[in-house]
Amino acid sequence: MKKILVTGLSGFIGTRLSELFHRYSLIGVSRSVSRNGRIPARNMIKADITDEKELSKKINNIEFDGIIHLAGITHIDRCEEDKINGKNGLAWKVNVTGTENIIRACSQSGKFLLFLSTECVFDGKKGFYKESDTPSPVNWYGRTKYEAEKKILSSKINACILRSVLVYGHSKGYKVDLAKKFFELLKSGKKISAVNDQFVTFTFIDDLIGAINLAWDKKLTGIYHFAAETSLSPFEFARTISSGFGLNNKMIKQTTLEKFFGKSHRLRLVNSSLNSDKFREFSRTRAKNLEDVVPILVKRWGKPGNIK
Ligand SMILES: NC(=O)c1ccc[n+]([C@@H]2O[C@H](COP(=O)([O-])OP(=O)(O)OC[C@H]3O[C@@H](n4cnc5c(N)ncnc54)[C@H](OP(=O)(O)O)[C@@H]3O)[C@@H](O)[C@H]2O)c1
Repeated sequence: MKKILVTGLSGFIGTRLSELFHRYSLIGVSRSVSRNGRIPARNMIKADITDEKELSKKINNIEFDGIIHLAGITHIDRCEEDKINGKNGLAWKVNVTGTENIIRACSQSGKFLLFLSTECVFDGKKGFYKESDTPSPVNWYGRTKYEAEKKILSSKINACILRSVLVYGHSKGYKVDLAKKFFELLKSGKKISAVNDQFVTFTFIDDLIGAINLAWDKKLTGIYHFAAETSLSPFEFARTISSGFGLNNKMIKQTTLEKFFGKSHRLRLVNSSLNSDKFREFSRTRAKNLEDVVPILVKRWGKPGNIK
């Protein structure tokens, strides 16, 4: 079976990838081999992607077909705190230097690279960004991801940059996703506050894995966007989850980005949406909108009173 190296296989998206990517043998590369206890240690290589020597020593004797690069420092506020450290900070080292090391590993072996990027490369003023729009990140996370994209595009390797937006729908990883978080809070009768002045093309994780699969099979090169067709505010997102699970919508209070995030609201994109036409035209597939995903989540997590 063909082998793919996957950085960040132990993360939120990587964990689901490991469950759904059946036709390939996946070998994870992460700093911890059993972060969530779901990936067998024999399928993991313990390596820090910021350490080029360690990385190349660990992967040199493995015959692999290419790399899916998911590893990253992804928390917007933590990345921002690290901005002061510039190129010596963890966010830059992992997101940019780490990507340069991954590019080198692909270039030395002539292998394909698939890099997962984000809408945070844009400023969030216009929304429904196309691949041809010019990035202009407003937070350090987006800046480091954009720098990584530029390193990939200026290298000579065959690579696909797949950008997505706030991924949800997988409850088993170590990181709780927004859908599951809202569901759990509402189920336990807690009030929640959800932002009503931000618009997001929330992306169902299983659809994203399907898109990664297609991009990998077709060895797509260049930049592609993959997210839901319509955007929702987190408030609308919470209400759709609540209604779908038969929970009490009155427990969801509306708030604003500014009230919810305080000073750091400026780091959030008001319009966090991507236009996925290019991917849809090529593949004839699209990410489902939330109302079509909710029945799947209800089956997966169970309705209150019958919780799995
Ligand atoms: N989640 C989303 O909504 C979303 C949306 C768009 C794009 N993305 C992109 O998708 C990718 C995966 O996101 P995610 O949410 O799955 O992230 P995540 O849950 O935070 O996982 C990050 C992964 O990176 C690994 N990692 C971090 N530093 C590393 C290092 N120095 N060397 C090796 N591995 C390292 C972590 O493992 P260890 O800590 O064990 O090393 C972990 O497996 C990210 O690049 C992100 O930018 C995510």
